[in-house]
Amino acid sequence: MPELFTWEFASDPYPAYAWLREHAPVHRTTLPSGVEAWLVTRYADARQALADQRLSKNPAHHDEPSHAKGRTGIPGERKADLMTHLLNIDPPDHTRLRRLVSKAFTPRRVAEFAPRVQELTDELIDGLAARGSADLIHEFAFPLPIYAICDLLGVPREDQDDFRDWAGMMIRHGKGPRGGVARSVKKMRGYLAELIHRKRAESDENATDLISGLIRASDHGEHLTENEAAAMAFILLFAGFETTVNLIGNGTYALLTHPEQRERLQKSVRAGERELLATGVEELLRFDGPVELATWRFATRPLTIGGQDIAAGDPVLVVLAAADRDPARFTEPDTLDLSRRDNQHLGYGHGIHYCLGAPLARLEGQTALATLLTRLPDLRLAADPAELRWRGGLIMRGLRTLPVEFTPRE
Ligand code: HEM
Repeated sequence: MPELFTWEFASDPYPAYAWLREHAPVHRTTLPSGVEAWLVTRYADARQALADQRLSKNPAHHDEPSHAKGRTGIPGERKADLMTHLLNIDPPDHTRLRRLVSKAFTPRRVAEFAPRVQELTDELIDGLAARGSADLIHEFAFPLPIYAICDLLGVPREDQDDFRDWAGMMIRHGKGPRGGVARSVKKMRGYLAELIHRKRAESDENATDLISGLIRASDHGEHLTENEAAAMAFILLFAGFETTVNLIGNGTYALLTHPEQRERLQKSVRAGERELLATGVEELLRFDGPVELATWRFATRPLTIGGQDIAAGDPVLVVLAAADRDPARFTEPDTLDLSRRDNQHLGYGHGIHYCLGAPLARLEGQTALATLLTRLPDLRLAADPAELRWRGGLIMRGLRTLPVEFTPRE
């Protein structure tokens, strides 16, 4: 039985997941926090569990509430009272809130956003291109999604650096002081509440930002409290931030360590093609996705997953990273194949909680990788892969730093 949640495991969890899939596909374990939970690692079981309505997202269903209430992977969340967000609730509240936010977060709105994402990406590369070396996590993967989401939500540009600082504190919580994280969450929450208040008072019918859209939807008869609106803005930020940092970080790392695949993609992008870029980003999500484990689920009644009985009140964690390497579903699952077509990966989840931000994440991931490969064509790793440190959170998988070198350009 391999050891889970150690330093070696954080660097490369895939051998341990292969063992679990084979020998203990629904496995009860003690998490580093002391909470006992089931890990579901096979693709078929994972997909079924993600869509199973007997598994609730509401932490009130946990049989050890003192441990797990509020533990949805968001540090300081309980204190900040941001519980009524999509990843923490079930139908009918989930259905109502998701409908409201889907109205404000349409694929058309995301497509209109493409030039802005390109502009942000270019600005960030302009800032580092002349130097010849950079930490791609801190200087590129981290700022891009935070500015993009702030723009989308309608956070004025002059306030976006505050968001960057608060988010930085939250993403570093593994190392940083817990008190600092709670303070950052509190500041962000206070700011969002005030912004919502202000936008409601201004009531600009032509405003296209997401918060104004939410306010309009709620003012037109659909029920949305100000707390729900603040929690919604917060979850969009939170769900859309570290995930996208990791897509860009893990994705670039995978390309730099698979030169043949990277060369294919580079050629294709330079030729102005989009197809390999699109299938490639999906493959990077499958191969080493940003979300290692889906967020918490709790059994509302006894049920069986993969032949294993699970008691009411037990927490269930669906291991997306393990399911997406299941040889029963994917041909040569440990091979990175950017042109993979049969690729219904679970990187964005499945069922009613399927990632709302997937179109935006795809846009950001594709823009970031294509621009990096075009503007810094000889980009290479400036560290031994064995020396790289992965962030040790439970839900997310991502690098702390990604040192790179390239020929400096003006
Ligand atoms: C839900 C992954 C980017 C907003 C989810 C879930 C996954 C996921 C796995 C389902 C969690 C579960 O069932 O427990 C990702 C990945 C991303 C990404 C891999 C980047 C590559 C984004 C972005 C946004 C976003 C950019 C928005 C700005 C959300 C929201 C939910 C969600 C609101 C909750 C949906 C619901 O409960 O109905 N995401 N996400 N995500 N994601 Fe994403």
